[in-house]
Amino acid sequence: MNNHPIGLFDSGIGGTSIWKEVLKLLPNENTIYVADSKNAPYGEKSADEIIALSVKNTEFLMEKGCKIIVVACNTATTNAITHLRKKYSIPFIGIEPAIKPAALNSKTNAIGILATKGTLSSKLFEKTANEYTKNITKIEQDGEGLVPLIEEGKLNSEETFQLLNNYLKPMLAFNIDHLVLGCTHYPYLIPQIKNILGSQVKIIDSGEAVAKQTKAVLETTNLLAEIPLEKIKHTLYINTNKTVLENIVNDVKVNKQIFEEDF
Ligand code: DGL
Repeated sequence: MNNHPIGLFDSGIGGTSIWKEVLKLLPNENTIYVADSKNAPYGEKSADEIIALSVKNTEFLMEKGCKIIVVACNTATTNAITHLRKKYSIPFIGIEPAIKPAALNSKTNAIGILATKGTLSSKLFEKTANEYTKNITKIEQDGEGLVPLIEEGKLNSEETFQLLNNYLKPMLAFNIDHLVLGCTHYPYLIPQIKNILGSQVKIIDSGEAVAKQTKAVLETTNLLAEIPLEKIKHTLYINTNKTVLENIVNDVKVNKQIFEEDF
């Protein structure tokens, strides 16, 4: 079982920001990444729809023999991970907006959170947010429209800049000193976000923490692999055109194959 791959899924290409962190920390592991771009954005769907799509992606990864699944999507984690953990016996790692470190480190006692509607309205998000932000002003913003633009590869378009500007500029009036990125697509917009918020605001995303948690769980479950680098294989599946996915993972120089497949 140890040499079986780590499975990861997202509503699209955004979860590759997590996949990249996993590869950095666990270079001797094979991975399978699933981009459900056909059904993106998840953030505008009901909890039941998000659960059904998460079950579909999980079963696809389990059929390919994955030993652990990283839900590389805040929206799927906050809406579906409890269901997945009840239904399947393999370990699941999730990702949630990193509100706790932002709130604990804030000097201005004001933080911004940019996430999807599906995440912001979930019970799990509400629980975490209430737990750590008692004396903190938190500005929650739904990033509606950003995921489809990123899926189209329009990272530097005028439309992307305008949306970010509309969503983030008002946060500065509240004197935020941290912005939590609550969607795995958003790390691809960090340069554009920095242009708007300036260097005073620290941007927090959870990618590295998720990779560390994945490693920790593989250790405690005795599932770590030690595959020699020359035998490593990473496989990525997407159910739309693969060009944008190819471009976004082009910086990762590993043995990888990308397939267009309907799932
Ligand atoms: N990457 C997903 C997340 O982290 C995007 C959700 C969506 O498709 O709206 O929430």
